[in-house]
Amino acid sequence: MTATHPYIDQHLSRFTAELMEMLRIPSVSADPQYKEQVLRCAHFVENCFKTMGLDGVEVIPTKGHPIVYGEKIIDPSLPTILVYGHYDVQPADPLELWHSPPFEPVIKPTNIHPKGAIFARGACDDKGQFFMHLKAVEAMLSSDELPCNVKFMIEGEEEIGSEHLGYFVHENKAKLAADIILVSDTGMLANDVPSVTTGLRGLSYVEVEVTGPNRDLHSGLYGGCVKNPINALCEMIASLHDEKGKITVKGFYDSVLEISRDDRDAMAKAPFSEEDYKRALDITDTYGEEGYTTPERGSIRPTLDVNGMWGGYIGEGAKTVIASKANAKISMRLVPNQDPEEITRLFQDHFERIAPTGVNVKVTPHHGGHAAVTPLDSIGYQAAAMAYKETFGKEAIPVRSGGSIPIVAMFEQVLGLKTILMGFGLDSDAIHSPNEHYGLYNFEMGIKTIPYFFKHFVELSKNQ
Ligand code: BES
Ligand code: MN
Ligand code: MN
Repeated sequence: MTATHPYIDQHLSRFTAELMEMLRIPSVSADPQYKEQVLRCAHFVENCFKTMGLDGVEVIPTKGHPIVYGEKIIDPSLPTILVYGHYDVQPADPLELWHSPPFEPVIKPTNIHPKGAIFARGACDDKGQFFMHLKAVEAMLSSDELPCNVKFMIEGEEEIGSEHLGYFVHENKAKLAADIILVSDTGMLANDVPSVTTGLRGLSYVEVEVTGPNRDLHSGLYGGCVKNPINALCEMIASLHDEKGKITVKGFYDSVLEISRDDRDAMAKAPFSEEDYKRALDITDTYGEEGYTTPERGSIRPTLDVNGMWGGYIGEGAKTVIASKANAKISMRLVPNQDPEEITRLFQDHFERIAPTGVNVKVTPHHGGHAAVTPLDSIGYQAAAMAYKETFGKEAIPVRSGGSIPIVAMFEQVLGLKTILMGFGLDSDAIHSPNEHYGLYNFEMGIKTIPYFFKHFVELSKNQ
């Protein structure tokens, strides 16, 4: 045990109270109405940095939301760990589905969280998780156990694509110099099945618009004579997958790195129950690309999904109308070696090509990012595995996740640094959904596991 644990035990209820205070700030990055709140949250993080004794603390303005930075350099000859996280959160809607208001955090018991969970938007993604690092470093500083240098960079635009952080990273390579990046913004398999995330998918996100007649038309007078943009959009979207669940966009799979049978067999060792999965989601069956298991479909294979679709009359009752246009938002999750810009281009070409006569199609690209993988033979991964072993008493399982944190690939490309993803959330924590929550057990275990990562990373670095 490290000397940090008595400090953590003693101060845990204060840590929880501080986190709950931060969760009261509705730092929704996507909605301009919350701009002031996002800034308020940045200052909250700044204050935490100052109170815990970091140096060089600043709220760095960007053309979007600010980045909060702070560091503790104890000896330039020692390794440096750069902690990344995000203080922005997803919009809370649909509000009516929350059992308690999203920005009024409450602790409630659940079936799977031994010490209950905090319910609030951002509790798990990512306020509750990045805050563990502040508290772990506070504990190390207070018990004189910080074994290396640490830099913190907490941003306010992860949920909208990290565009301005991207510029910042390009322009501040020296300031961000480090040996490894450490992030808690993913999940683990279960509270008694610790795992380390070893991969993230990339993302290509587009919006499409299908336009037909120059105005909404009477569906009796014009129905059957004019190509209906909503019908057209539905036909086009339906054709994006074939009967084997493969994506039909021409060239979509060309650059995909196929995973070896050995790696797939290793993945299959992680516990997974198709029945539990279906039950948890109330679905009668799973779906996906032929020839792959559900965990594979959700991590090592690329996907295409409609995220939202609108057009025509959606109010009360019936209105007989052929809408003049129809829209959809589409995400494509990418795997290593697929280039988001190229995929966006392929999609655009394909979608324009399949448009039926009588309508026009416009594709607008949004944010994107590359996939990332962590090699298991790196000292970063080994240090993480050793850390979980210390606190959970068992071997952590390496798991590739289906989610995306686009800045991670950029860290590697621009700073030449690998990222270690030590996530403590559970898939059932409802991130991005109503009633998001984060287990107090997970919060505590995170704070207690992080100092071991520091310790082992420094020790393993010595032998390099
Ligand atoms: N923390 C998530 C990503 C995540 C969650 C990865 C769980 C692995 C496991 C992150 O905040 C997120 O939501 N990312 C977005 C991408 C972003 C560009 C909007 C995503 O994956 O949709
Ligand atoms: Mn996140
Ligand atoms: Mn998120």
